[in-house]
Order: sequence, then C-alpha cells, then structure tokens
Amino acid sequence: MADLLLGQVISFTGDPFVEGETAARHDSCGAVLIENGRITATGPAPALRAAHPQARITDYGRALISAGFIDAHAHYPQTAIIASWGKRLIDWLQAYTFPEEMRFSDPAYAADVAGRHLDLVLSQGTTSICSYCTIHPESVDAFFTAARARGLRAWGGKTCMDRNAPPGLLDSAQSAYDDSKRLLDTWHGQDRLSYVITPRFTPTSTPGQLAALGALWRERPTVLMQTHLSEQPDEIAWVRSLHPEARDYLDTYDSHGLLREGAVFGHAIHLTDREKARLTETGASLIHCPTSNSFIGSGLFDMDLARTLRVGLATDTGGGSSFSMLRTMAATYEIAQLRGHTLHPAHLWWLATQGSARALHAEDRIGNIAPGLEADLVVLDLASTPAIEQATRRAETLWQQLFPTIMMGDDRAIRAVWIGGRQHI
Ligand code: GUN
Ligand code: ZN
Repeated sequence: MADLLLGQVISFTGDPFVEGETAARHDSCGAVLIENGRITATGPAPALRAAHPQARITDYGRALISAGFIDAHAHYPQTAIIASWGKRLIDWLQAYTFPEEMRFSDPAYAADVAGRHLDLVLSQGTTSICSYCTIHPESVDAFFTAARARGLRAWGGKTCMDRNAPPGLLDSAQSAYDDSKRLLDTWHGQDRLSYVITPRFTPTSTPGQLAALGALWRERPTVLMQTHLSEQPDEIAWVRSLHPEARDYLDTYDSHGLLREGAVFGHAIHLTDREKARLTETGASLIHCPTSNSFIGSGLFDMDLARTLRVGLATDTGGGSSFSMLRTMAATYEIAQLRGHTLHPAHLWWLATQGSARALHAEDRIGNIAPGLEADLVVLDLASTPAIEQATRRAETLWQQLFPTIMMGDDRAIRAVWIGGRQHI
C-alpha cells in the first residue's frame, strides 16, 4: 500500500556550495509518496492527494519532512565512552578508547553496544551511518546484524591496527587482510549493508598492513576505504617521525594504494596545499567531524574544501560529544564562524543529508527527497521546546523557522523516522 506523508518538505535540486541557497526546494504544503520502500513522487499536497486517492495519509501538519540524516563517520564501539573528560587525541585513545575497544572481543557486549548505538542515533533522526568497528571480526558481525535488524543502509568495517596499540588490540598485516576480505565477502551487498576497508590511521598500521589493505582494495575495487587524516598537530608530527620518506601524511596512504575515488578521510583539518590539491585530483571524500574537533581540541576544518571535494558530516562518536546530527550542524556553523565564514542553513542541511550521501557515493540511493530514492526520512517539529518555539514566532521563511532547531534542537525535535518506507519512530 502506498503511503502519502503531508507536511512541509525540504529537498535539494543542486549543491548549495555551488548554486547557493536556491539549490534547496521548500514546499510549505508538500507531500511525499512512498511505494515499496521508495519515494515515487513529491510535490504540492493537493496535487498528490488528488492523484493518489487510495494512499494511506499521514498528516504531519507544519512539521518538516526531510531526508534522514547520514552520519558519515562514527565509532559505534565508543558509545559508552562519549563525553570522557580531559584528553587530547593521542592520550584520549590510550586512556579511554583502547581499553573500551578491548571489550569487543566479547560478542555479547558488541551486540549490546551496537544495538544501543543504532537506537540512540535513530532517536536523533539519523537513518544511515558509516561506522568503524574494532579489530575483532565479531564487532563487525554485531554491527551489521544490528543494522540489518533495523533495516538500515549502513557501512562498517573492521578497524585494522598492527602497531602502537595495546597487545590485545593488535592484528597483523596478514590477519587484517584475511579478516577484512572474509567480512567483506560475507556482508558487502547484503540487504542495505556495505563493507568499508578500515585501517585506523597511519600511526597504528605498519607499511606492510597499509600495503595489504591497499592490495585488498585493488581486488575489491567497488567498496569504500575509510581512515583518519591530519586531525591534530601531534599526530601529524608522529606520522612524520614514523615516515620520514613520505612527502606528507596523505602520501603515507597514497603510496600504499589507499588514495583514489572511494577513499573517505575523517577530519582532514591540518592539510598542506599539496595534500589539498592531491585530494582534489584523486576525487577522495572528506568527513567533517565538528563536535569532535572542538571536544578533543583538534582544530577548525576548512569548509571551502566543499567547493572542490565531496564533504560529508559526522558525529565521530565518541571523540564527538553528541549523537545528534542537529548538534553536529550547529557545531559546523560555529566552526565556520570562527574561521570567518558564515554558512547558510541550506549548506548545513545539505551537508547532513546529500553531502554525506555523496561522500559515501550513495547519492543515487539516499540523502534527498526525489523519485527513485530510498524512503529514509526524518520528520521534525520546528517548535519542539519553549526556547525554540518563541524564537520562531516571527519567522517568515523556512530558514528562519529551521535555524533555531539546527542550533538548539535535540531528539525532542524528532517527530517521526521512516526507514526504507516503514515508519520506525
Ligand atoms: N584517530 C585514530 N583513531 C581515532 C578515533 O578513534 N577517534 C578519533 N577522533 N580520531 C582517531
Ligand atoms: Zn574517527
């Protein structure tokens, strides 16, 4: 049976970083038709109602119907250590992250946290996620099992590390290759799941491991590869001391077959001009993780890169301090302000939906409201708290109505979530 959702509808006909805010389309009395898990039509409510009299109607009134949010870089195993006090990246990894990731050798614990993480992000309107797992293959099984049970389009991969981590968290070049290949062949393309080749970052992978994963990527060229790049100055200095032969941090990936279209780099804050040019030339994706970058003190991402590169948005849980993509958009706005750039709400909304979809090469499936796309939707109450309600009373445009929810909204703003054409919340 067809579903017809009524409400305000936001969608994109282009890229606001290229075309400005006119790339966004707003229907204040709009409708979205869903059939067999996909969006089959969108437009003014009266016309769609007349054309589809048999459809089951859900009327959301003044609430906003949007593509669901896409969190393009998360670490589900760090769910329980979110908001851990007082450290910067390298000490934070040692003090909080590695001890917690050690627990994921226990499949029951991994299953518990994977389910908890996905339920937390769904309650925030996130309908797709790309997550790192731990070095344990069981952690990948747990993630994909939990995502499949909820019908999510999700990406994940075994985090590979064969140096500079505690002994209980180390694999080897060979076992990383073997386990990744087996997990990829088991999970990639099952339902809505995609495997991602996942070396954690250069400091924790030997050249042998980077090369082994580069070889796997050549054998399985259609999957994505994700890792971290140039997040903090201390990390970059560490990479330089480990790889004096490399031109720069990016070169340590490039020289091992880990840089091309389909490479997805988290953070990418402190880039040289050569790195920016090489990233652009190869068509790699960057993922901005703003709450993480302020929480663990990493720096200010250069959003000008969104003009030439695929840039997505992410929580980076648990380096990031929130599960919410609304809070992540707010932090994106604040970081751009600190760099002297004012982002329009259309930029922020696009980054959290289409931008992340493009960064993950899935823009033909998710991240927008258009015929043919999968029906992953979030419905937002734009007056969800007294503070937001009073700030929107004089709003005349969608953007004036929406911006207080971007800056101050949380899960109370999430009125409904649809996954693959089925109402989940
Ligand atoms: N760099 C390497 N591993 C990590 C991680 O788990 N979180 C963040 N924020 N940066 C990293
Ligand atoms: Zn990360």
